[in-house]
Amino acid sequence: MPAKLSSVTVVGLNVTPIEVEVDIDRKSIIHDVDIVGLGDTAVKESKKRVKSALRNSGFKFPQGKVVVNLAPADLKKEGSLLDLPIAVGILQASGVLQRADILALGELSLDGKIRSVRGILTTLLFLSEIHYEGIVVVPEENLREAQMVDGLKLYAFAELKEVVEFINGVVKYEPVSFRGIPPAEYESELDFADVKGQAVAKRALEIAAAGFHNVLMRGSPGSGKTMLARRIPSIMPPMTDDETIEVLKIYSTVGMMNSNRIFRPFRSPHHTASSVAIIGGGNDAKPGEVTLAHNGVLFLDEFPEFRRDVIEALRQPLEEGTVTVARAKMTITYPARFMLVAAMNPCPCGNYGDPKAVCSCTPYDIIRYNKKISGPVLDRIDIIIQVQKMEFDEYFSKQASESSNEIRNRVIAAREIQYRRYAGYNFSTNSKLSSKLLRHFIQLDDRSEDILKLATMKFNLSNRSIDKILRLSRTIADLDKSDRIKLNHVAEAIQYKTQDHL
Ligand SMILES: Nc1ncnc2c1ncn2[C@@H]1O[C@H](COP(=O)(O)OP(=O)(O)OP(=O)(O)O)[C@@H](O)[C@H]1O
Ligand SMILES: [Mg+2]
Repeated sequence: MPAKLSSVTVVGLNVTPIEVEVDIDRKSIIHDVDIVGLGDTAVKESKKRVKSALRNSGFKFPQGKVVVNLAPADLKKEGSLLDLPIAVGILQASGVLQRADILALGELSLDGKIRSVRGILTTLLFLSEIHYEGIVVVPEENLREAQMVDGLKLYAFAELKEVVEFINGVVKYEPVSFRGIPPAEYESELDFADVKGQAVAKRALEIAAAGFHNVLMRGSPGSGKTMLARRIPSIMPPMTDDETIEVLKIYSTVGMMNSNRIFRPFRSPHHTASSVAIIGGGNDAKPGEVTLAHNGVLFLDEFPEFRRDVIEALRQPLEEGTVTVARAKMTITYPARFMLVAAMNPCPCGNYGDPKAVCSCTPYDIIRYNKKISGPVLDRIDIIIQVQKMEFDEYFSKQASESSNEIRNRVIAAREIQYRRYAGYNFSTNSKLSSKLLRHFIQLDDRSEDILKLATMKFNLSNRSIDKILRLSRTIADLDKSDRIKLNHVAEAIQYKTQDHL
């Protein structure tokens, strides 16, 4: 009788249960292992690791031909996590191990140790959701992830030998104790108190953080754009538990679960980064920076210096909150709902528009530089501000600036209003309010509507821009703790959306 074990294959953030069947033909004169059932390279190499691991753990490799079948046969199986179920299956088929209903995940090293694998948290959350009742065995190196999931009969082991002792009941092992998801923390390394002046920019970033709106900062070199952007994490609210789980699942998939502390993501890839690094993809269809920034900030400094295809590829995640990564014969969709913070100079020399400096660029240079950010991309940005160089007296001013803590408290208050308003929906911030629901949640009085109509005509605003102004007005009103959206809220929102038209 062949041995049968459960396992999974993880593609992107999707987990699919599979079955590992092992049969041994003892009469065969060929002593070998054959793995069938659409395994990738890592699965095919599994046979060598399993053979050595069994031998070095003190087990005799069975005589005869071992056939490992990964079912269903038409589903591609990925990664080295199938080493452990294959090894356990071989031991069961050869009678060394009792038959038991276990689901095992783990890579084996040649000496029989069980190595960590990616996607453990994603897998365990899936098993918990489907109320999996069998025993689940994971690598001890993934213990931290295992402790986050409740409701499973979960055991973690460091060596293949221990799994055998456990299944045969020779040694009693304790199940993994549930610790829960660690609470997300505030990032407080850099503080807005260090930034002198810049009232307009700080206000814009406060609004952005409150409603999770995209921002573009334009300004001459040294005006403080990078300095401001790096302080955004200090005014963002900590992640909710649901947001934390989404982020941890992504981290688990890319093997970034190496810290005990969890913060809202802030990613700042360099402009020379490849399209695969930022958008995702490649042979193994890995998630890119847009996914690693999910629920957090994606900071693109020197925005026009990024590759044009990268800038254009941001359109899908900016619109849909997801990114589709293609690879041979299939596509994978990852979450990518981030707050874009972009910074750029107004022209190649950086001085265009600065009243105190001389711009050495030709009009053609300026147009070409700005054209790198196409209309559709600009349209997806809610707030565009000009960051002016500090005035001389501001620089030497002794007056203390407001701290991040004070700003964050207002941001949190505005977020809480949004959480309550959108309870029961699949989004929680004003910026993610769909066009369909927009009119349901946002109504303007006549005077406000008139000024918006006027702006639409004057600046030839697109429908998307008008919607963005409405969402932004809602956030500004929320920061003002006002149920009603007032004229001054709409007027301020219009300013942020029409800067590129000036
Ligand atoms: N408002 C400010 N308060 C205090 N220091 C400031 C301020 N603005 C700029 N600085 C100082 O100037 C330095 C340069 O600022 P920053 O690198 O943020 O400019 P930038 O706008 O990003 O310039 P570039 O376009 O060249 O990238 C900062 O590191 C900081 O020391
Ligand atoms: Mg800079």
